[in-house]
Amino acid sequence: DWSMSAYRSEMQKKIKEQVGTGRVICGLSGGVDSAVAAVLIHEAIGDQLTCVFVDHGLMRMNEAEEVVRLFRDHYNIPLVHVEAEELFLSELAKCGADPEAKRKTIGRLFIDVFDAEAAKLGGADFLAQGTLYPDVIESVSFSGGPSVTIKSHHNVGGLPERMKMKLVEPLRELFKDEVRVLGRELGLPEAFVGRHPFPGPGLAIRCPGEITKEKLDILRKADAIYLDEIRKAGLYDVIWQAFAVLLPVRTVGVMGDYRTYDHVCALRAVTSVDGMTADFYPFDMNFLGRAATRIINEVKGINRVVYDVTSKPPGTIEWE
Ligand code: XMP
Repeated sequence: DWSMSAYRSEMQKKIKEQVGTGRVICGLSGGVDSAVAAVLIHEAIGDQLTCVFVDHGLMRMNEAEEVVRLFRDHYNIPLVHVEAEELFLSELAKCGADPEAKRKTIGRLFIDVFDAEAAKLGGADFLAQGTLYPDVIESVSFSGGPSVTIKSHHNVGGLPERMKMKLVEPLRELFKDEVRVLGRELGLPEAFVGRHPFPGPGLAIRCPGEITKEKLDILRKADAIYLDEIRKAGLYDVIWQAFAVLLPVRTVGVMGDYRTYDHVCALRAVTSVDGMTADFYPFDMNFLGRAATRIINEVKGINRVVYDVTSKPPGTIEWE
């Protein structure tokens, strides 16, 4: 792609100019955006970059391992893997059910962890992030509506005063489809480039109510089954994003001779071009029935499955 190869060299020039001889750390989230940002920056400044992957315990099944493998083994880009599950879950336990408190806590902890890692590396001058254009505008205003903050996207809005690092955001002008083109241009494996977006706050925003390790484990299992069925049906690539949400609601059911009283799981799948607007995906009922049956049979703690038929607007893609 001609325009992307031009963008690639243009951005590399800009990154070099901005960074000089400074040290950069880049937070990897497991998503496409931060991976593309990291590879682009690494091409520009090589060993001045260190990637930091913070495992906050809010990742999907096997996601942490996949990210670490891609960067260490495929790219040979220096990567610090921080195990921070206990820290994040203990602080999130203090947030109760408040969605904004959860998001702000996650944002604050990310910065604390990056600060600490930067200090261990002997100081870093820049923090690189894979912020995209829609992240920038969505956190300021909602198109067509009043100028209000819909959600505090944790990776936008600059850094708090106390943080001395400056931001490097080479994807700030791009939309998701463009980031994917750039990712291919940079030689990222197709399986990684084609991945559904995954939000920085991870499963925390798919687990309304109080967050516990037990609920996250239930959610991870349901989510993995749902995605497995989507892949088997050949639908992964036509869907923008699909995931399970674990509701803080219990309902009565029967399993064999027993009465159950377990969580409700909501399934979400949308099509979209840039995440700014989205349509719910019109699965066929047999597919939904199959996914629901497997989830209820295979995941202890869920006895009811519902499908979310809300488009965006008026809904958002994530539930919090
Ligand atoms: P919403 O739920 O706002 O999501 O319709 C739009 C897109 O943004 C992702 N998203 C986030 N990504 N940090 C991120 O990196 C965040 O805080 C965040 N919140 C939402 C969401 O997954 C969807 O792709």
